[in-house]
Amino acid sequence: MADTKDIPSSGEGEIATFQLGGKSYDFPVVIGTEGEKGIDISSLRSRTGYITLDEGFANTGSCQSKITYIDGEKGRLCYRGIPIEVMAENSTFIETAYLIIYGDLPTRRQMSDFSQKVLRNANLHEAMLHFFEGAFPFTAHPMSILSSLLNSLGCYYPNMVTNDREKDLESFDDAAALLLSKVRTIAAMTYRMKNGLPLIYPKKDLGYSQNFLHMMFSEPYHEYYPHDDVTKALDLILLLHSDHEQNCSTSTVRMVASSGANLFASVSAGVCALWGPLHGGANMAVIKMLEEIYRDGDDGTRFIEAAKGGKTRLMGFGHRIYKSYDPRAKILSEAADKVFHVMRKKKDPLLEIAKRLEEKARSDPYFIERNLYPNVDFYSGTILKSIGLPTDMFTVLFAIGRMPGWIAHWREVATKPKSKIIRPRQIYQGEVNKPYIKVRNRDAGDLQDYESDVSKSEGYGAAENASFKA
Ligand code: CMC
Repeated sequence: MADTKDIPSSGEGEIATFQLGGKSYDFPVVIGTEGEKGIDISSLRSRTGYITLDEGFANTGSCQSKITYIDGEKGRLCYRGIPIEVMAENSTFIETAYLIIYGDLPTRRQMSDFSQKVLRNANLHEAMLHFFEGAFPFTAHPMSILSSLLNSLGCYYPNMVTNDREKDLESFDDAAALLLSKVRTIAAMTYRMKNGLPLIYPKKDLGYSQNFLHMMFSEPYHEYYPHDDVTKALDLILLLHSDHEQNCSTSTVRMVASSGANLFASVSAGVCALWGPLHGGANMAVIKMLEEIYRDGDDGTRFIEAAKGGKTRLMGFGHRIYKSYDPRAKILSEAADKVFHVMRKKKDPLLEIAKRLEEKARSDPYFIERNLYPNVDFYSGTILKSIGLPTDMFTVLFAIGRMPGWIAHWREVATKPKSKIIRPRQIYQGEVNKPYIKVRNRDAGDLQDYESDVSKSEGYGAAENASFKA
């Protein structure tokens, strides 16, 4: 089984030399298994007094990882070495989750045990159902509820949230299956609560995605039976979102984990990071954009021109890593046609608009020069909408899909020998030697008093302490 212990720490003797202040310094080059190269500058500050500055971390490798590989130039994505296209064609979300979390494809026995464990964990602790009885207003955003309840979930399993790394790791297999399973139940129950519908319990004879659709759309008096292709489309969306190396939410999970925090707290933080419109929230924003284009009868020109003028972004376009077509978007664009056919929709106006918008943007020099292609969020929303999911649940679906990745990254951090807390530095650009001015002297015209205040300013704390003591 894959672990982090044998990750190589440096390349084959390649050295990078920096010239700083007239001196030269050598740093080792680390080479990844796909040939990616990074300069290991971990001794930079202690040897030179300098740090690196890389806002947005576009050139910074925050860790060495064995989980997912992306070649952004070629549009390649592999989970544990297996191309995404192969997984999409042959696998399921749960098998993919196992691969991502544990490093290898499961044997038949392992697969059956893992699926059973996920299934057995589908119910929420009954006490948690009170959260759906008025604890949150109907207007609450489902991502806010999801993040809160994933963190709260840990309260019901104190043996899994000891914040003692060794102990948390002993219960890792249980915690992983539990989170993978219950995140879907929390999501479905949130939807039911927000719509004033009775909560629907999971069933023991349904697979992962089918059970989710059942909890979303069945009624006490009417079972919902989705078409197989609808269940497959949802499963595919989850599979395609399972991991994506050091994206914003995964980096957040790793950062929280690096402090020694438990898995529940770490993934809950991941949900918050995912929520933003530049990350997972983009799938909601895409649909809003397509609906606006539909309503206005515009051909997309207005959005494209606004994006080119820097007023907005063309949502679902562009990616920090992909400078060619996002392979997940390619798979989803093809899947969308199939789902619409199954849903007996001859044409979906939003999908039509999306395809026209893509064509228009991809022939525009602005998008060509900047290598801006559709990303995973561009087509996922049209599929989710066509299978009946409301727009405000889209990012929640992304979170369910990303759960295996967050869990695997937490484990990678937690099992790394001599794991370090993630704590970047900064270049301070604030004021220097600013005087403290007593509140009574802060009005305009009173500034002349500040010098005397400065000389006494130490006395503020001292005086407070003194009076405290008294
Ligand atoms: N529409 C218009 N211009 C764009 C877009 C866009 N969607 N994305 C990037 N650009 C421009 C940007 O203005 C900049 O132009 P210039 O060089 O003239 O200043 C150039 O392209 C490079 O952009 P950047 O902001 O430096 O790129 P980034 O790597 O920091 O941002 C991104 C990546 C995904 C945040 C960005 O492309 C974006 O905001 N896209 C729209 C939101 C979106 O679809 N997010 C989902 C990402 S995929 C799923 C996920 O992982 O969450």
